[in-house]
Amino acid sequence: MTKTDQMRTIRDEILTLKKSPLYEYRTANNFFPVIGEGSHDAKIMFVGEAPGRNEAKTGKPFCGAAGKVLDQLLEHVGIPRPTVYVTNIVKDRPPENRDPTPKEIETYGPFLDRQVEIIKPRVVVALGRYAMGYIMTKFGLELQIEPIGKAHGKSYPTNLEVGPQGIVVLYHPCVAVYNPNNLPNLKKDFEILTQYKE
Ligand code: URA
Repeated sequence: MTKTDQMRTIRDEILTLKKSPLYEYRTANNFFPVIGEGSHDAKIMFVGEAPGRNEAKTGKPFCGAAGKVLDQLLEHVGIPRPTVYVTNIVKDRPPENRDPTPKEIETYGPFLDRQVEIIKPRVVVALGRYAMGYIMTKFGLELQIEPIGKAHGKSYPTNLEVGPQGIVVLYHPCVAVYNPNNLPNLKKDFEILTQYKE
C-alpha cells in the first residue's frame, strides 16, 4: 500500500468510528473528521490538540485563527507549509472547543501513532500541553515531561533507532490568538525547527 492508501484507510476507519465519544456530535452537526494535511514524506510533523469549528467544517487542520498564526510562524522560519505534515491527537471536534478528555485521547491516539509510522518524520512537534503529554509518553520521554511553561522551545532527543530522532515542544499557536503579544516569543521558539529543515 502507498502512504496515501494507508492514510485513506485511517480516514475510512475514523469516518465510521462509532465507538468514539465524538462520533454522534460530528454526525449530528455534519462536521468532518480532521485527519491531517501535508507532505507524506515530511521531515517535520506538527501535532495539535483537536479540530476547532472551522477545521471540523472543512476537514482541514489549522485553517482557522490558530492556523493563521501557524502560517506566520512557519513563514518566520522559512518552512513552506506544504513540506510539513500537520495533524492533531484528537481527530474530531470536541463540543465548545473544550479540552479533550483522556478517553478521547485514548480513542484517537493509535491513529496518530500510525500516522507517525507512515510519515517517518525526523522530528515530531507537539503544539501545546496535550500533544506534549501524549507524544513524550509515547516515545519514552515521560520522565522528562515538564509544565509547558518550562518545556516550550525545547528539543528532546528520543535515542530511538527507528522513529523520530527528536520531539520538539512548542506553545500552541492559539496563545497568540488570545494574546497577540505572545507572537514574538512563539516566533523565537519556532527558530529551533530550522535545524530540521533540510
Ligand atoms: N487547534 C488545534 O489544536 N488544531 C486545529 O486543527 C485547530 C486548532
